[in-house]
Amino acid sequence: MRRRLDHHQPGRRPAGRPRRLALPEGTSQVTMRIRTDIAHNSRVWNHWLGGKDNYAVDQQVGDRIAGMFPSIAEVARADRAFLRRSVSYLAGEAGIRQFLDIGTGLPTADNTHEVAQRIAPDARIVYVDNDPVVLTHARALLAGTPEGVTEYVDADAHDPDLILRSAAATLDLRRPVAVMMLGILNFVLDTDQARSIVRTLMDALPSGSHLVLTHPTLEFGGEGNREAMAFWNEHATPPITARGRMEFASFLEGLELVEPGIVSCARWGAPAAAEVPQFGAVGRKP
Ligand SMILES: C[S@@+](CC[C@H](N)C(=O)[O-])C[C@H]1O[C@@H](n2cnc3c(N)ncnc32)[C@H](O)[C@@H]1O
Repeated sequence: MRRRLDHHQPGRRPAGRPRRLALPEGTSQVTMRIRTDIAHNSRVWNHWLGGKDNYAVDQQVGDRIAGMFPSIAEVARADRAFLRRSVSYLAGEAGIRQFLDIGTGLPTADNTHEVAQRIAPDARIVYVDNDPVVLTHARALLAGTPEGVTEYVDADAHDPDLILRSAAATLDLRRPVAVMMLGILNFVLDTDQARSIVRTLMDALPSGSHLVLTHPTLEFGGEGNREAMAFWNEHATPPITARGRMEFASFLEGLELVEPGIVSCARWGAPAAAEVPQFGAVGRKP
């Protein structure tokens, strides 16, 4: 089953009741929101991952950042490898059948539904992103198994209530859900607000639900990371922040950490890997 929701109107923040629109690809509402004059995170991330779904401005900013912070492409690859390992663990050992992937990014190899449905073909996945370019590529994210369901919601992570209302059309929120927030809380600049978003999401879900996080940090490795983030905030969108271990850990408060706890995402499920300056963790709601 394939579905797509769109909660944006040009120039407005999402609000009110979820609205379903049957938007064909490339319609004016979507293309009007695409900015090709400023680098955007989903497209630069795609560039670092070796993808082609980006513009010249994304390549220029991405390459300047890689010049200052040479391991950035390694961070992006380690983050995706963490996604593969954590979703495999969740769909396998933890028996999770529902995934809410917020800050999905552009489709690449091994998207959440592909990893989950390889193990559990009946897995149900809701993707959420606010980037119009991700919306135009949503079709690739909606090609799941016949037994499972994938849905795409065009919404902002700052509005967790809307995300929950939208997700409830596809996921049974009385049953465990894995909330994936990989590389997205770093775009919620206020730490209290980021904590509140996580809490709203996890409070709405039952015991056995999981929270999966990655987040950039300046605490280990990553020569040039601080300078690169400052450059990003001057030349690209949305603005980003790094966080330390204590702040990252506070997002997981009240959850049981799945082994090995809070580590460089490269080392979660791969203890011998070289560290990258990006935390990764999986927490289970008791
Ligand atoms: C670094 S990419 C990570 C993509 C994917 N989760 C991964 O780990 O490979 C961050 C994604 O978050 C999205 N994003 C940033 N701010 C957002 C917001 N406020 N609401 C929804 N999505 C957002 C961006 O458009 C981008 O696709």
